[in-house]
Amino acid sequence: MGRMKKMGFATKAVRGGQRPDPTTGAIVTPIYQTATYVLEELGKGRGYDYSRTTNPTRETLERNIAELEGGRFGVAFASGMAAISATLHLLKQGDHVVVSDDVYGGTYRLFQQVLRKYGLSFTFVDTTNLPSIERALKNNTRMMWIESPSNPLLKITDIEAVSELAKEFSVMLVADTTMFTPYFLRPLELGVDVVIHSTTKYLSGHNQVIGGAAVTDDEKIHEDLRFIQNSVGAVPGPLDCWLTILGIKTLHLRMRRHNDNALRVARFLESHPKVERVIYPGLESHPQHSLATRIGGFGGIMSFEPEGGFSAAKRFLRSLKLCSLAESLGATETMVTHPATMTHGSIPEEMRLKRGITDGLIRLSVGIEDAEDIIQDLDQALAKA
Ligand SMILES: Cc1ncc(COP(=O)(O)O)c(C=O)c1O
Repeated sequence: MGRMKKMGFATKAVRGGQRPDPTTGAIVTPIYQTATYVLEELGKGRGYDYSRTTNPTRETLERNIAELEGGRFGVAFASGMAAISATLHLLKQGDHVVVSDDVYGGTYRLFQQVLRKYGLSFTFVDTTNLPSIERALKNNTRMMWIESPSNPLLKITDIEAVSELAKEFSVMLVADTTMFTPYFLRPLELGVDVVIHSTTKYLSGHNQVIGGAAVTDDEKIHEDLRFIQNSVGAVPGPLDCWLTILGIKTLHLRMRRHNDNALRVARFLESHPKVERVIYPGLESHPQHSLATRIGGFGGIMSFEPEGGFSAAKRFLRSLKLCSLAESLGATETMVTHPATMTHGSIPEEMRLKRGITDGLIRLSVGIEDAEDIIQDLDQALAKA
């Protein structure tokens, strides 16, 4: 394909960063399942020497994700956690990070139980509240870490406002926008330095792979991330990259459907007499509903609490027939999770409850099945809760 000046999002999803394979013309980038590449003579190769360092299938995925985010550089990793860990490797001993208080449990665990041992420190604040971020800044703050929407309470941070603050204080701003994907939100356009994705979720989209990515428009950050990617070595395999490329081709179609299904499910749950609260950015009751409306999409994830706490939640989960009790989000299948014991089990109970992750809270990742079938399943399970 010749270079087009400006492509729309759907075109980027289908074709971004992809070219016919130079050896055969294959329209889909082949799975270059190789560890190494033969050199013609010392110092003379074809741009590849070892697959930890570079691999053509991985490069296609990296270009594709970068284009979707509107950045120049994408760096792919073996998991979302590997992408997060690599980005934290940009820091050095003694540095301080301000973090959204409602982050994915694995991010919290990495920061508190692994990276603190290496002399990094973290302050968790409600990043939907700008003054509380400003109060948390210290002389040694080098990074702000935003997760938006947050997991599992769907808090939405005003990234543009935070980015002004980050610039004022010369602090690197990182945003994990796994839940919204670049279909709804492109943080680089709002002034963020690095965007993080668990590509395990919507980007690959079919529960077929674990992966992660970091995207930046900054040459120095890219050079450093590339160095870390190669030095630490948490790279994705070529097959995993290929499966992710394939998934991304329908991202725009899936995200629209996830969004539409989720809005219907959220309205159903909100009107159900046995449901105590529903947290979904598309509902007017959501504290950042107007910000989400400006973003132009609400995503496919919500959390809710049936009446009756933990025992009702347990009965509800046991009674589901279609929706799967599974620890992930962002795939074609509707999945439910119990954050307190599953995704956020590594957060100390007192802190978890303070954050609002109660024992009865259920997270729902609405898939792209027929909305009527999802609602029917939730309805019959609520009747038994
Ligand atoms: C928002 C968010 N970021 C990062 C991760 C970690 O990604 P992975 O499971 O691919 O390592 C997750 C996983 O659930 C997540 O929800």
